[in-house]
Amino acid sequence: MLAGQPEAVRSAMEKTGGGNGRRRLALLKRAMTTTPRIQQYQGDRRELRPLFELAEDSASQLDAYLHLGHVLVALLDDRIVGHLQFVPTGHPQTVEIKNMAVLKPHQGHGIGRALIESLVELLAGAPVTALLVATAAADIDNLRFYQRRGFRFRSVERDAFTAATGYPGCVVIDGIELRDRVWLDLALPATGPRVENRDLLLASRPGLFEAEHCLPHTGLG
Ligand SMILES: CC(C)(COP(=O)(O)OP(=O)(O)OC[C@H]1O[C@@H](n2cnc3c(N)ncnc32)[C@H](O)[C@@H]1OP(=O)(O)O)[C@@H](O)C(=O)NCCC(=O)NCCS
Repeated sequence: MLAGQPEAVRSAMEKTGGGNGRRRLALLKRAMTTTPRIQQYQGDRRELRPLFELAEDSASQLDAYLHLGHVLVALLDDRIVGHLQFVPTGHPQTVEIKNMAVLKPHQGHGIGRALIESLVELLAGAPVTALLVATAAADIDNLRFYQRRGFRFRSVERDAFTAATGYPGCVVIDGIELRDRVWLDLALPATGPRVENRDLLLASRPGLFEAEHCLPHTGLG
């Protein structure tokens, strides 16, 4: 089954209980159309560049990592509305969320959460104990989003977002100058392999956890 979908549909069914058929059908239909389908993206990454740009202010940084790692996409009615790129880190026990975004009109509807849940599900059974992500210290919304998903603060890189690293000067987010990068991590549950879902998402990408895509910890995430 796909992340997000069972909960939404189950909740719609619970809400309607033994109630009338038309309301039950309407609620079920709404749950189905607002619940994203999450799958691994095998297409041309350049097509997703506008989505990546929502989370990355540096064109040169994005050029350097756009094609790395793996990408999950969230689809609504077969249209891609969000993505999550994840990459190995050089440490077999950690995987990094390198870039993720949801199209503006679809933000705040649980799609980001569904993408993270799918990745956690995908990593179950792999020798990965922590999921890393970096974001701007200035981006209060992102800090909230990741902490609400269970991420904890790990470290701070001061002055990470400078002209020298490819970022435009004087970017202000929520009234705070874009300067420092914050690293967060999510401890992953040490559960056994859930082969069915992993196979579904991995499709034909058996090299997922091999180290050949390693890259240093840079970028906005
Ligand atoms: C950060 C980002 C990926 C989050 O994705 P999202 O789909 O907006 O996030 P979600 O909707 O899953 O979660 C946001 C909140 O909206 C809430 N929400 C869910 N459904 C909702 C609804 N129908 N109405 C209002 N809020 C809702 C969620 O419960 C969540 O709140 P919580 O954290 O208190 O649980 C997205 O906002 C984004 O693309 N931002 C710009 C790019 C970016 O900065 N990326 C991150 C780089 S590190």
